[in-house]
Amino acid sequence: MPDPPGWCSETLLRLLTGAWTTQALAAFAELRAPDAMDTATGIAADALARALGAHPDSLARLLRYLMTLNVVTEHPDGFRLTELGALLRAGRPGSLRPLALMYGGVFYQSFADLGRTVRTGETAFDHRFGENHFDHFARRPALGELFDQSMAASSRMFEPLAAHPVITAAGRAPAPATVVDIAGGNGELLGRLLAAHPRLRGALLERPHVVEAARRSLEAAGLGGRYDCLPGDFADVPPGGDVYLLSRVLHDWDDDRCREILRGIAQAMAASADLLIVERVLPGDGSASLAAAWDLHMMCNVGGRERRADHYARLLAEAGLALVDVSPLPLDASVLHARKVPALTADAR
Ligand SMILES: C[S@@+](CC[C@H](N)C(=O)[O-])C[C@H]1O[C@@H](n2cnc3c(N)ncnc32)[C@H](O)[C@@H]1O
Repeated sequence: MPDPPGWCSETLLRLLTGAWTTQALAAFAELRAPDAMDTATGIAADALARALGAHPDSLARLLRYLMTLNVVTEHPDGFRLTELGALLRAGRPGSLRPLALMYGGVFYQSFADLGRTVRTGETAFDHRFGENHFDHFARRPALGELFDQSMAASSRMFEPLAAHPVITAAGRAPAPATVVDIAGGNGELLGRLLAAHPRLRGALLERPHVVEAARRSLEAAGLGGRYDCLPGDFADVPPGGDVYLLSRVLHDWDDDRCREILRGIAQAMAASADLLIVERVLPGDGSASLAAAWDLHMMCNVGGRERRADHYARLLAEAGLALVDVSPLPLDASVLHARKVPALTADAR
């Protein structure tokens, strides 16, 4: 076999140091350096170190590495944040800081056991932390809140959903329609839909400790009086909704649990109701997609998986639901529209 071309070893070195990239971004975000920097005016490394209480030489070396990632740039007046780096600022809408802290924190530790997961099929997170990640976060409020914020951080994928035909029809219905968000996290998606359609009402079902975070963010968005927060479990899906949402939930679970969750929803749904599922769908043709990376993330951290559209169609069919349509969302996500199969309506009730 001929020697591989020279570029191969450089490419592989870049790939092999990916963990350093994750940690450099996490350290930069954790220090809140992006908040102390500007995109138009530079700051000297020494002055930045003083502002952050950091070690000057070490910070300068971190900044030099981050220049290679286009997170910061160097100018005669010092270091400036790029548009990319500005996404790591705390508190700004769409901030990716919570994701940087999760991927450089607990999920980084579990990924260290990826090889074990591949050998044994066991979830790395459970092995490393001794419990399922939802239970782990539930017992650690600060970490749980960071997880909820990190889910909301990639909510750019929700942007087109307010204009989805199912949502616009519900928004224009003569009698105010209700959207039920099952395991709706901190209310990011429901809040967007209610804000875009003033006649819509909402209900958000979540585990008790998460419901409170959802209530706070929906109230802060001025949506008080238009939604109900329902503390509970997947078994408690309320009847009477016009549209049911299931966003980034099925990928957390194996097929058996997904069928159970979907059957519970089908039982609660009236024949006229719609179900919208948001997931990263694995391409059927093997083309590149973020879904392949998140499939590893699910395998390592929750014991779930990303799936192809035909896989979702099968799970839905086994729960008495039919996949009607799949349309793309940003960040390689998709929205799958499902309805009850008319012939099974009586059985599912
Ligand atoms: C990956 S997050 C998705 C949150 C939100 N739907 C989104 O797209 O941002 C999965 C959610 O499932 C919730 N969850 C986990 N187990 C649950 C259960 N047994 N009953 C209800 N919700 C649950 C978690 O609290 C978490 O908020």
